[in-house]
Amino acid sequence: MGREGARTQILGEDFAARRARAREKLDAVDPHKRPGGIEADPKRREWFETVYALAEGDPAGVPWAYLEPRPLLEEWLASRSIAGLRALDVGCGLGDNAEALAHAGAHVVAFDLVERAVQWARKRFPKSAVDYQVADLFNAPKEWRGAFDLVHEFYTLQALPEALFPDAAHALASFVAPSGTLLIISRARDEGEALGGPPWPLTRKDIESFAVDGLRLVSLEDIGVSGDFPRHWRAEFRRGEAGA
Ligand SMILES: C[S@@+](CC[C@H](N)C(=O)[O-])C[C@H]1O[C@@H](n2cnc3c(N)ncnc32)[C@H](O)[C@@H]1O
Repeated sequence: MGREGARTQILGEDFAARRARAREKLDAVDPHKRPGGIEADPKRREWFETVYALAEGDPAGVPWAYLEPRPLLEEWLASRSIAGLRALDVGCGLGDNAEALAHAGAHVVAFDLVERAVQWARKRFPKSAVDYQVADLFNAPKEWRGAFDLVHEFYTLQALPEALFPDAAHALASFVAPSGTLLIISRARDEGEALGGPPWPLTRKDIESFAVDGLRLVSLEDIGVSGDFPRHWRAEFRRGEAGA
């Protein structure tokens, strides 16, 4: 069994059934699932708001919530130390990845566009050291410029139309401090492979397009299909030293 299947099984059959019903409802109201629907909600803001509103506190209603950190992030954290680093979690959802970063010793700011998501994360982790904030990737607080040694994003880019990638790339790069790292983990597809979606798995070229404003792609792992766990990219970008 793949990792996705295993996780749903741990959460139980009832959770899986509620998740399936929620997905159906959410697909029905997602303008990006209809031809020509993109103009109605180009940044998918309304849809993300709708996800958390319709969930009414049930994590099964949030299609990306598994109530644990993403295994591909945990694996990455297990092979290095981030103790003492300033980390930013982009599009934090219900907070599990942000908590994993904090557990690993980083000082974490985590943000999401949707206030309901941020309130939910705070409620789930009342004693958390994570600073959860409501913010928009495309209009983030000025004081975050160059303020983070590690900027982490998981599955947010693949949930956004690719027309937003250039702006997203500049925004993500702007957060990275001298010598800092941007870590992007997303589903992967080959150039020319049917896009489907949303979510829209990224191509190698998409990933490479995030090397902007002084960031260099220093590692790109192509993590193959395993059971029902789909192919992923895990990409690390680094900024040179100040003045380098
Ligand atoms: C697909 S979910 C991924 C959540 C989480 N990173 C995870 O791994 O489960 C994308 C998240 O990004 C948030 N989001 C979407 N657009 C955003 C934006 N412009 N700024 C900040 N967060 C955004 C959504 O509300 C949602 O919680």
